[in-house]
Amino acid sequence: MVETVNQATFYLPNGGGIIVRPAHESDLPAMEWEGQYTHFRQLYADHFAASRLGTTLIYIAETLESKMVGQIFLQLYARNAELADGLHRAYLFSFRIKPEYRSQGIGSFMLQFVEDQLLSRGFDSIRLNVARANVRARKLYERHGYHIIGVDPGVWRYQDHLGEWHTVHEPAWKMLKKLR
Ligand SMILES: CC(C)(COP(=O)(O)OP(=O)(O)OC[C@H]1O[C@@H](n2cnc3c(N)ncnc32)[C@H](O)[C@@H]1OP(=O)(O)O)[C@@H](O)C(=O)NCCC(=O)NCCS
Repeated sequence: MVETVNQATFYLPNGGGIIVRPAHESDLPAMEWEGQYTHFRQLYADHFAASRLGTTLIYIAETLESKMVGQIFLQLYARNAELADGLHRAYLFSFRIKPEYRSQGIGSFMLQFVEDQLLSRGFDSIRLNVARANVRARKLYERHGYHIIGVDPGVWRYQDHLGEWHTVHEPAWKMLKKLR
């Protein structure tokens, strides 16, 4: 699967190619999905800065024509060590595939891809939170070997592109996968 150390290509059922690679700074505008995620501009910029420091990994999926179709973020180190401890446990978040590209295997490929990336860095487990209302994503994670380890109130804050603070309330399942 892995063609170079940190990039891989997936082939859709129709033969089209999808490249999974680390995000560049120039990818940030496309990560707003034509306006749907403009409110996360500052959040993405902060995580991109963390990716330069090496504490976060951001991968995007794009077509061979450079059209972005998905993304996945991993915190290697977080202030909350229960999420990511910089050594063994990483936290997966902001994982999404554009609706017209879903259910073709890209998400599963990206999950496998990031697991390989983490293993090569010496990590041995992945934590994530999935909204309790998001049954389909939970089932996808369960098929990939994640299991529920608890509940999370899912309360977090972000500052939007206009500088306004928002509080999100999204009760979630805490999930964990042991990679080895
Ligand atoms: C969750 C998400 C990232 C999964 O990505 P995806 O590319 O659709 O994932 P896959 O295609 O690998 O698997 C999804 C489904 O397609 C099916 N599938 C995989 N390959 C397939 C193929 N070649 N043909 C038909 N179906 C296929 C899988 O069995 C799976 O079944 P399901 O419908 O019961 O879930 C995507 O649905 C998404 O962006 N959802 C909205 C955001 C979200 O919920 N993110 C997770 C937050 S924790």
